[in-house]
Amino acid sequence: MWLIAVAVPLLPTIILLSSRYRVKVATLCRQAVAWALKLVRGKVCVRRTHAFVFSQCTHGKVDSILETFDLYAKTHPSLCIGPEIGEALDEVVRRVSPSRVLELGMHCGYTSVRLLRLLPPAGRLITVELDPLTAELGEEIILVAGFKHSQFQVLTSSSAEAISTLHLNIEPNSQTSEGFSLVLMDHDPQQYLPDLLALEREELLCPSGCSVLLINRSQRAEGLRETLDHIRARADFYFVKTELQFMVEVFYQREITV
Ligand SMILES: *[C@@H]1O[C@H](CO)[C@@H](O)[C@H](O)[C@H]1NC(C)=O
Repeated sequence: MWLIAVAVPLLPTIILLSSRYRVKVATLCRQAVAWALKLVRGKVCVRRTHAFVFSQCTHGKVDSILETFDLYAKTHPSLCIGPEIGEALDEVVRRVSPSRVLELGMHCGYTSVRLLRLLPPAGRLITVELDPLTAELGEEIILVAGFKHSQFQVLTSSSAEAISTLHLNIEPNSQTSEGFSLVLMDHDPQQYLPDLLALEREELLCPSGCSVLLINRSQRAEGLRETLDHIRARADFYFVKTELQFMVEVFYQREITV
């Protein structure tokens, strides 16, 4: 909106300049657009989303937090998965009823809150976020929602790094860990496959069954396709359970339980 307000009075100058310096102006415009996109899609978005939710929601009320995120996303660019994917996710969480969940790519904390509200009392979420500011703001949202540090842990690192240390994080006091029964991937899709393989190698996927949810954000669909190709070639342990445009559920099972 403000762009238009600024641009209209400048229009005659822009037209005059553009006929004289057509190429230069085009380059400048492209740069301006790139800059504006970066501004709205980058860290600024995370800060603004956080500030809006923090100030507008009712603290301690999970539903209010989710609604406030959705309200913000109606008028602003946002990385929240939103109510539509959210409901598909809820359905999986209710069905799997996981005691340990791993989330790769925390963003604003929306999905973390959504997941945590459906976990059993002893359930635990480990969420991984590469960007330190995003991780800090997301963690604050989880706390604002009323969840305790005994229920979740935020790891600020790359997903690969986090996976290599997860054994220490999930069961610090136990030798026999069952691993995760739900993993949600919403980070860089180029990492989906290497991270899935690393989780398998580290025996972090629950052998009696683990649902791996792969979020599909339309701009970056290639990494997802590669992951699915691999999964289809590994019919021994994996199968694609549901394939929605925005979310794919893959099921991993190593031991058949009777
Ligand atoms: C992911 O989304 C893109 C764009 O909406 C779509 O073209 C693609 O088919 C989707 N991928 C899957 C596996 O559904």
